[in-house]
Amino acid sequence: MFLARLMGLKTTYVNRCRFIFLHLFCGLIIPFLTFSQSGNSQVKIDALVASMTLEEKVGQMTQINLEVILKKENGVIVNPIEIDTAKLREAILEYKVGSFLNNGRRAHSRNEWLEVITAIQTMALSSPSRIPIIYGIDAIHGANYSSGSALFPHQLGQAASWNPPLVKQIAQATAFETRSCAIPWVFSPIIDVGRQPLWSQFFETYGEDVFLTSTMGNAAVRGYQGENLSDGSSVAACVKHYVGYSAPLSGKDRTPVYMDERHLRETYLPPFERAIEQGVRSMIVNSGELNGIPSHANEYLLKTVLRDELNFEGVVLSDWGDIERLFTVHRVSANRKEAAEIAIKSGVDICMVPNDFVFCENLIALVNEGKISESSIDESVRRILRLKFDLGLFDNPITIPENADERFGGKAHLELAYQAAAESITLLKNEGNILPLSADKEILVIGPAANSLQYLNGPWSRTWQGTDSIISGESFETISSAIGSKSNNTNYILGCSEDSLINLPAVLEAAAKSDIIILCLGEEPSAEKPGDIHDLTISSSQQTLAKALINAGKPIVLVLVEGRPRIVSSFVDDCDGVIMAYQPGSSGGQAVADVLFGKINPSGHLPFTYPRYVNDLLTYDHKKSEEVDNYYGGNGYDPQWSFGEGLSYTSFEYSDFKVNTDTLRQGRKIVIEIKVRNSGSRHGKDVVQLYASDEVASITPPVKRLRSFEKIDLKANESKVVSFEIGEKELAFVNAQMNWVTEEGWFTLEIEGLKKRVYYRP
Ligand code: BGC
Repeated sequence: MFLARLMGLKTTYVNRCRFIFLHLFCGLIIPFLTFSQSGNSQVKIDALVASMTLEEKVGQMTQINLEVILKKENGVIVNPIEIDTAKLREAILEYKVGSFLNNGRRAHSRNEWLEVITAIQTMALSSPSRIPIIYGIDAIHGANYSSGSALFPHQLGQAASWNPPLVKQIAQATAFETRSCAIPWVFSPIIDVGRQPLWSQFFETYGEDVFLTSTMGNAAVRGYQGENLSDGSSVAACVKHYVGYSAPLSGKDRTPVYMDERHLRETYLPPFERAIEQGVRSMIVNSGELNGIPSHANEYLLKTVLRDELNFEGVVLSDWGDIERLFTVHRVSANRKEAAEIAIKSGVDICMVPNDFVFCENLIALVNEGKISESSIDESVRRILRLKFDLGLFDNPITIPENADERFGGKAHLELAYQAAAESITLLKNEGNILPLSADKEILVIGPAANSLQYLNGPWSRTWQGTDSIISGESFETISSAIGSKSNNTNYILGCSEDSLINLPAVLEAAAKSDIIILCLGEEPSAEKPGDIHDLTISSSQQTLAKALINAGKPIVLVLVEGRPRIVSSFVDDCDGVIMAYQPGSSGGQAVADVLFGKINPSGHLPFTYPRYVNDLLTYDHKKSEEVDNYYGGNGYDPQWSFGEGLSYTSFEYSDFKVNTDTLRQGRKIVIEIKVRNSGSRHGKDVVQLYASDEVASITPPVKRLRSFEKIDLKANESKVVSFEIGEKELAFVNAQMNWVTEEGWFTLEIEGLKKRVYYRP
């Protein structure tokens, strides 16, 4: 680069040449150095394992943070990143490390990724075993650690679309963009069921329902993995965090979960079972503890349930530093060596160490001392090598999809990001049809989320927490800039930060001059531990701002940009309209503006229950006893907005609810039909949601459960008959003996308030 600059060559030209060189190197030279994948891969894997030293095997079970092998100056990673060859040699030639992860604290261009991965693979192929590295990354709403990639809504928003084919397309686009950076493995999707809204990873879930989570999880896995992992544009998916991670009693990340096994099997395990049926190739373990047992030490869950019962044959990866934490935090081992012994014996295949090589030394010693058998090591290594083979890494460790240059961060993926944001945005209140807005009104756009790409993109956006200014340099619209480009009568002021009001007199003056106020509130991005909160209520400065604006007497549309439902009950009744935007990604500003002005007719529906009170976090599928207050009257279930809610600028009429028989026989199906008519004046989409209630059961039944759904698209006055087929499996629950059963008796089926009863007779 330096030489090229001296010679006066243009950077773009030099980049192009570097790129062509990398392509040639990856396409012609590297494959030459590798094993061929053709022939019987199992025979090859067995032969390879038989020829490997213990050190090589342990290295395959080790995953190291990229940061460890990057050049630093005064302890700071150089920018742009460069590999520290001595460190790389140490990792790969001395410790025989087989896997790397993460991004070295910031996003990189495709060129940088290709250089880094090429250097790593070249070193790996120069080792005696010549086994390619598998690189994994958190590409969780797009290839978020690659600069210039499309950023899709976070999973919670994706779930609000209730559109599984769209979620599959997002995963395909993410796979394509990740592979375009020569990375073949994504740590996504999260299929923890999000029933604890305080939890800082709530935004990463598909919400509170088991069926919706399983359906969306499967769509994502299918999208990532494609038909064939080695087709050059698919990646291996890694579902997480197995299992029960998302229900911490304290609401804080990585804190204890107390849950009986029946509940675990009925609510938290099914998405993992479905993903395994779908062929998911890997899984990350829950960082926390379940009933006092850290999940990395839970042999029952990792072996008996996962391997013997669910027949999972893929790779089990520890979470970040979590084997060490068995010693440092959970205190179930006296030192790191014992921690490694417990985790490997419990069933972990790869340790995401991530910052040193102590795990390698400890595991080698444990095998040499006879504490861990080499045959169990071989089993893990076989699984890891199988994944590498199936990804095509042995044929060519660097495969870049065709058209990567044009399609990476290109028009099609940006349009998909826009479509996803548009389909997720959920209209929750529209009093007096205040929306859509007319462009001739004086609009005040205000609030900490109004002019912020950080709020829109959320965490895991170029950096882990997504709070820095890197994202501001990208050419995406914020909500206020997108509104500004639609109407000349727009004024924007910040109004407040999350901590304090800013210039109240100016706020009131701006409010007085406006006809309508678009109040954009929510929460700054945060992920994992840094996202722990003590109170679900929206910050007090935002409440004060909202109340001051309400007192100003102008109509208000509240736009919520947040990753969990921050409580707004102290002022929301005085807002005329409410839009939930979630963290809608790079096209979110545009999509919010298009919803406000009616270019998009909103069709998102809440994938969780939005609480009204801090101490009332019931989900929609609560028990009857939680709903009826026998002593004092009133309704125990009183959320701000319930799961499944979502309005439209048109209206839908439901009628002709039919079931083809009132008796469901074992092994048979019933057909349920409903007619939906778009009775309003504009084209729109609705989500037809089928719920079932078990009227009497041996385990207290939830009041209802989502059993199927379909998103439909209707022109004004158009009608459609939607049908569902369900059998006893769709009505089952886990009984006291831990078996999925459907008990004889009556079930009530419900769609949009219409009901039918069906008798199940085994
Ligand atoms: C998170 C995982 C993530 C991993 C690697 C962990 O702290 O819990 O979800 O995949 O880090 O970045």
